[in-house]
Amino acid sequence: MCGIVGYAGPRPVLDVLVPGLERLEYRGYDSAGIAVETGSEIAVVKQVGRIADLERALETRRPDGGIGVGHTRWATHGAPNTINAHPHLDCSHTVSVVHNGIIENWADLKSGLIERGHSFASDTDTEVVAHLLEEMSNVGLAEAVRRVMSIAEGALALCVMRRDEPDVLVGARRGSPLVVGLGDGENFLASDIPAFLEHTRRMLVVDDDRVVELRADDVRITDLDGMEITPKERVIEWDLEAAERGGYETFMLKEINEQPSALADTLRGRVDPMGAVTLRELTVPDQILRMIDKVFVLACGTSYHAAMMAKYAIERWTRLPVEIDIASEFRYRDPVLDGRSLVIGISQSGETIDTLAAIRYAKAQGSTVIGVTNVVDSALAREADAVLYTRAGPEIGVAATKTFTTQLVAMQLLGLYLAQVRGALDPGSVAHLVRELSLLPEKVTEVLGLDGHVAAMCGEWADVRDFFFLGRSGDFPVAMEGALKLKEIAYVRAEGYAAGEMKHGPIALIEPGVVVVGVAMDTRIRSKTLSNMQEMKARGATIVMVVEKGAESEVAEVADHVIALPDSPDLICTVLAVVPLQLLSYHVATAKGLDVDKPRNLAKTVTVE
Ligand code: F6R
Repeated sequence: MCGIVGYAGPRPVLDVLVPGLERLEYRGYDSAGIAVETGSEIAVVKQVGRIADLERALETRRPDGGIGVGHTRWATHGAPNTINAHPHLDCSHTVSVVHNGIIENWADLKSGLIERGHSFASDTDTEVVAHLLEEMSNVGLAEAVRRVMSIAEGALALCVMRRDEPDVLVGARRGSPLVVGLGDGENFLASDIPAFLEHTRRMLVVDDDRVVELRADDVRITDLDGMEITPKERVIEWDLEAAERGGYETFMLKEINEQPSALADTLRGRVDPMGAVTLRELTVPDQILRMIDKVFVLACGTSYHAAMMAKYAIERWTRLPVEIDIASEFRYRDPVLDGRSLVIGISQSGETIDTLAAIRYAKAQGSTVIGVTNVVDSALAREADAVLYTRAGPEIGVAATKTFTTQLVAMQLLGLYLAQVRGALDPGSVAHLVRELSLLPEKVTEVLGLDGHVAAMCGEWADVRDFFFLGRSGDFPVAMEGALKLKEIAYVRAEGYAAGEMKHGPIALIEPGVVVVGVAMDTRIRSKTLSNMQEMKARGATIVMVVEKGAESEVAEVADHVIALPDSPDLICTVLAVVPLQLLSYHVATAKGLDVDKPRNLAKTVTVE
């Protein structure tokens, strides 16, 4: 949430900051701003709206200098308007601050600052940092930031400039991501890699409670005691093309279409020729995996739907009991877990604060934690005892697509690995399922060929007000995900429900004009789902059925539209079934003329509770 990009070097500073902000816009996009140290002042330009609005404001005023910082905002404290846009200044305009996260004790800090004579221009929590730094002008900027870090509570990534140190940007991180890009005679500081990827692939990950002093020719990182730390330099493997639209109208469409190759990457090197699962990177010893007696899977949003599927898969394949929790609820229900519990946190970004807080709680109870994430070296990857990367490549569209299907496959690999290690499935059964998993990239390609069929169906639905997505067993998380996708990018009320639950209340909402999508890939219970769909049809709903090829005649009587997919075993077929629902939400949203890559009120990385 919120994107930061900072630059120190010889280029025109806005030529780095503005494209960098465009690449970070997925992190928040209600307002944006820049600050540049010009040699005579810290010049600030900010604007409510998108980066394009900021660019228009910069047409009349284009400050330049040796260092600068930009910010794209997702509002937490203070309405999304130009005044609350970052950067924020102190009273004397000698300090500028951009921030990602929430300063939880901002109200106390602010009232103290007001008592001491400071006046505030905005309603943000961030502005307290500018005024606190103003009071610390007697110490170097890095030391002042260290002091602020010990006063401010909550999740922070900061990037600050001060007039008396005109060649240095100081960054700090606790809880919100921050990375350094290492150039030749120039350096970058950002919330995420795409901000500087066109300039360098060399990078450093900044750990929590670290302060970065970034100059054109030097990067110094210290802990909160001022002790110098030398993090390992890394080389970014993906290139800029992976973070660009590549001829597609939107990132979301590109990412939907990248699923075959993303899934192939998730599987690569993780199964051996005999059909066994080999998760070499999973550094939890097999004897620990053998002695666990309970599994918890924790996640938010779309990732929670991967957790739902994982419950079915792990329980079915290992016979271990599995509990799933929306990560933000987990700590507050006093869950029963201990040293024999395995806790799996799923988060594409690896930075979702709710999920991080939940796994920290689990670690404190002595449980073993595995992180499943798409982002190398993210907080989840670093804090978990072991990590399984989903390898989907960068996902820029705010709605999760390829990161979700790769989560499904990663969780299925993990479930099969547990079953293998614990002897819960015989090698032949594991090999059969592994073979089916390896067919997914090809089958997803086939499903993507249905795009025209799905688009034609959705052409009629731009004005539909209510959708339901129903399924049982493994089809249920798919239905939940279909509904979430439609809600978030098409702004339509869409409910995902267990098909059998409709008759206990929600059926009252069914009437002509409502579209009900029934996911019925699970052959064991298809007839029951079909009965539920008949109940919807009888009340006038338009019915869409998602089934495997060959079952079209079975559903012909109930369905107004049929989406027929390649055959695949239960649970594994969730990966196929969700793809037409991604396309469905995409086409409904585009029929309404909406910006699918940047749906309103959302951000890609949710670093606030
Ligand atoms: C929906 C979506 C969100 C995220 C949720 C968790 O398309 O992307 O619901 O799934 O915010 O994010 P991660 O997976 O990064 O923890």
